Amino acid sequence: MQGIGGKYFALAAAVAIFGAGFAAHAQDQTKAAAPQPNSAAAPSQEKSAPQPTAAPAPVVSAAMHKKMEAKLSYCKTCHGVQGQGFRGAFPMPRLAGQQPDYIKNQLQAFIQKRRANPVMNNVAHVLSPEMVDFLSKSFHDLNPPPLGGAPAALVPEGKEIFHNGVPSKDIPPCATCHGDDAKGNGEIPRLAGQLNDYIIRKLTNFDKERGLKPSPTDVSSLMKPIAHNLTQQQIAAVAAYVSNLK
Ligand code: HEC
Ligand code: HEC
Repeated sequence: MQGIGGKYFALAAAVAIFGAGFAAHAQDQTKAAAPQPNSAAAPSQEKSAPQPTAAPAPVVSAAMHKKMEAKLSYCKTCHGVQGQGFRGAFPMPRLAGQQPDYIKNQLQAFIQKRRANPVMNNVAHVLSPEMVDFLSKSFHDLNPPPLGGAPAALVPEGKEIFHNGVPSKDIPPCATCHGDDAKGNGEIPRLAGQLNDYIIRKLTNFDKERGLKPSPTDVSSLMKPIAHNLTQQQIAAVAAYVSNLK
C-alpha cells in the first residue's frame, strides 16, 4: 500500500505539472488565434476610422463555432445526445461530466496509439487543439442522470471495494485516485455514472489496450496492476456500484 501511495503521489505531482503546462500552452494558442489589434493603431485612430476590417472577424468566429457545434453533434451520435453513453453493438462510454484533462489525454493516446481502438483512432487524429479544448469542456459541462441497468445485488460488494480496496490482494481503494465521489481528477477519469458494461470491458482488457507505447509513458501504468489483480466478480461488483453514482 505504501508503495502504491508513494507512486500515486509522485504521479499526481507529475500530472499537476503536466496540466499546468498544457493550460499555459492552450492560453498561448488562444492568444495567437485571437485577432491581434494592430499595436501601431492608437485607440483614437480606431474610433475615427470607419473600420473596414471589423466586419469579417465575427463571421469567421461564427463559422468556427458552427464547425465546433457540428463536431460535437457528431461525437454525440455515438456517445449520446447528452453525453450519457449509449448501448449499441458494444457500449459507448459516457463522456458527460468527464474530466477535461482525461478526455484530452485519451484523445492524444488514441492518436499516438498508446491506446488501442480503431474507431477512436480515426475520430481523434483530425481534431485541432482548439477543437479538443472545446469538446472536452462541452462534455465536462453536461450532467444527465446515469443510464443505470447494472445488477443491484452487486452494489454492496462494489461499494466496499471502491472505498476500502482488497487489502489481501494489495488492491488499493479506488477512491484514493478516482475520488470519494468517483468524479476523477486531472488525467484520472470520472467513473461516476459510467456504463457498467463499458467498465467491465475496459478492466478486463486493460493490459491489451492501454499504455501500449513505451514512450511517451502515461498514467495508465498506475491502473494496470490494479485492473490485473481484480477478479471478474470484483470487476462486475465495482462497475455496478460506480455506474449508479450521480
Ligand atoms: C462511431 C462512434 C464514435 C464516434 C463518432 C465518437 N466516438 Fe468516442 N468512442 C467510441 C467508442 C466505441 C469508444 C470506446 C473505446 C474503447 O472501448 O476503448 C470511445 C471512446 C472515447 C473516449 C474515451 C472515453 C473513456 O472513458 O476512456 C473519448 C475521450 C472519446 N471517445 C471522445 C470522442 C469525441 C470527442 C468524439 C467526437 C470528436 C468521439 N469520441 C466520437 C465511439 C465513438
Ligand atoms: C493509483 C491510482 C489509481 C487507483 C488506486 C485506481 N485507479 Fe483506476 N485509473 C487510474 C488512472 C490514472 C486511470 C487512467 C488510465 C489511462 O490513462 O489509461 C484509471 C482508469 C480507470 C478506468 C478506465 C476508465 C475509462 O473511462 O476508460 C477504470 C474503469 C478504473 N480506472 C477503475 C478503477 C477501479 C475499479 C479501481 C479500484 C479497484 C481503481 N480504478 C483504482 C488510477 C487509479
